[in-house]
Amino acid sequence: MGKVISVINQKGGVGKTTIAFNLAKGLAKKGNTILAIDNDPQGNLTSAFIGSHQKPAADILNFYKNQAEIVIPQTIDNNLYLIGADIHLSKVSDSGIDVIFNLKEGLDRMKNRYDYVIIDCLPSFGYLNMAALKASDYVLVPTKPAPFSLEGLRDLFDSVEKAKKRFNPDLKIIGIVLNLVEGRKTIIGEEIEQVLRDKFGDLVFTTKISRATAIEESPSEQKSIVEYSPESKHADLFNQLVDELLERM
Ligand SMILES: Nc1ncnc2c1ncn2[C@@H]1O[C@H](COP(=O)(O)OP(=O)(O)O)[C@@H](O)[C@H]1O
Ligand SMILES: [Mg+2]
Repeated sequence: MGKVISVINQKGGVGKTTIAFNLAKGLAKKGNTILAIDNDPQGNLTSAFIGSHQKPAADILNFYKNQAEIVIPQTIDNNLYLIGADIHLSKVSDSGIDVIFNLKEGLDRMKNRYDYVIIDCLPSFGYLNMAALKASDYVLVPTKPAPFSLEGLRDLFDSVEKAKKRFNPDLKIIGIVLNLVEGRKTIIGEEIEQVLRDKFGDLVFTTKISRATAIEESPSEQKSIVEYSPESKHADLFNQLVDELLERM
């Protein structure tokens, strides 16, 4: 009960939010009770769930302000809940060392009401991401098969190692998910995928997500790809991703 998974990579644009959103919806569709948390001041996960003109009813900022008692997750569906974020979250990131611990302390009060808690992280190394590493059981790492992604992963894995050593010994990397894989095979894409699989072995999910317009469009209608285009092969891939994640846990 209450397993916390952070979707994290200090690089932007690799699909953290897309994957966090679709996983939250997909795990809920399988009957799990899910709490989705937006830990990024850009608020993209929040917009995916409630649209870009709504203010979230529950704000992660209150965890960081040590006011967890007023955080009542917003109901999205009967087994899917959201704690959102907006630009005000950016003020937290340099407000002191407590920040790193506040998210976990807030979540500990409520996480056992859920099967899984999915945290969408921001692209940076900073206090907000350290807070997510402190609060998590698992990290899931989206990446895209592009030059420099390997160096990015090395830096991320270093941060995870440090987090384990200093403040969360039980943290586990559940895996690396290749996203934005080109439908038409490219030499560079295939080479990078091979290097990743050689270097990280079974840590790389078998399921990989292709680049597809429908995956990009669906969150703006508050729909997962499975809801938006259920018969598509992209929907199949996300169903497989959910299954593979559950197997790995
Ligand atoms: N598999 C995909 N196919 C097409 N577009 C994608 C895919 N994954 C992500 N995107 C798009 O790429 C951009 C960055 O994705 P996003 O999930 O916001 O990344 P991050 O949260 O890591 O910054 C967004 O416009 C998103 O819609
Ligand atoms: Mg994002």
